[in-house]
Amino acid sequence: MANLTRKILGIPFKNPIIIPSGPGGFGQEINRSLLSKIGAFTIKSITLEPKEGNPPPRLVDAGYGLINSIGLQNPGIKMFLSTIYPKLCPFPTKLFFSIAGNSPREFREMAAVLNGIEGFELLELNLSCPNVKDASTLLGADPEPVAEILKQVKEVFTTRPVSVKLPPEMPDLPSVIKACENNGADALTLFNCITGARFDITTGKPFLKRVYGGYSGPAVKPIYLRKIYLARQLTKLPIIGMGGAYEWEDIFEYLLAGADLVGFGLRTMVDLTEVAELPEKAQKWLFNHGYNTLSEYLQSVRREEIK
Ligand SMILES: Cc1cc2nc3c(=O)[nH]c(=O)nc-3n(C[C@H](O)[C@H](O)[C@H](O)COP(=O)(O)O)c2cc1C
Repeated sequence: MANLTRKILGIPFKNPIIIPSGPGGFGQEINRSLLSKIGAFTIKSITLEPKEGNPPPRLVDAGYGLINSIGLQNPGIKMFLSTIYPKLCPFPTKLFFSIAGNSPREFREMAAVLNGIEGFELLELNLSCPNVKDASTLLGADPEPVAEILKQVKEVFTTRPVSVKLPPEMPDLPSVIKACENNGADALTLFNCITGARFDITTGKPFLKRVYGGYSGPAVKPIYLRKIYLARQLTKLPIIGMGGAYEWEDIFEYLLAGADLVGFGLRTMVDLTEVAELPEKAQKWLFNHGYNTLSEYLQSVRREEIK
């Protein structure tokens, strides 16, 4: 069967499939042999202080997708590091950490603590949660806070690469990408959920307590592919692409659009066993089409200048 390995930021991945932040929680409840089949796992975003998250209902089906309004529920960085993280180690695949804060100071404080913690490969800055009231909501839509947060984080977090997770909705993607490049981002995670809402025609009320939430799932795939493609024209930074990936074919489609790794979020919530089977399906397809490696396939089909 074909080889799917990739080396991004000097990190060897057994395949380009990742579980993005959120849908897999901290990975505690996931079968370890399933996790070992996936290229990397990102923990749910942690914050400086514990967060209860939003009041229910927090999830609503939206046809070919789901709207979630979790609101960054997590026990806070101290509790995560003292009681949860030790039980996760050693993690069965590459591990990414994700942090979310309300201010550059909060990001800096968490990054400083994590700089000395071992066992994870990359730090993701969640600047794009659509489900919190405070300032962190769409920090990533504006180049100024992106620049300031990165500056603060890079001063204290020096041991591993930093990826910036951006929202899909922003007025000026080129300026935000420039701010990431100019302030030391090592990678971009593109993108968080897009905002969406649904209403109950019987009661006249919104289904979600907070009215809107983050919409993700197969319905958003073409929108995200286009945005990832656009970002790829603007930067050479590695892109951790996600948003709408659901089937094994999507691995190739996101890589062709310009991603280097591909996240399967909603699919993980629906059926992680099937996510763990995606690498083998992709390997078989490559082999049956005469390719020994993923790189061979990409070199063969990728046209450098698609206008
Ligand atoms: C239930 C749920 C919780 C999420 N929580 C987080 C989170 O804590 N931090 C974060 O950066 N992204 C979070 N996300 C966004 C995902 O990491 C990812 O960007 C998105 O789900 C990708 O789209 P997909 O679900 O279509 O694959 C969450 C998504 C879902 C569905």
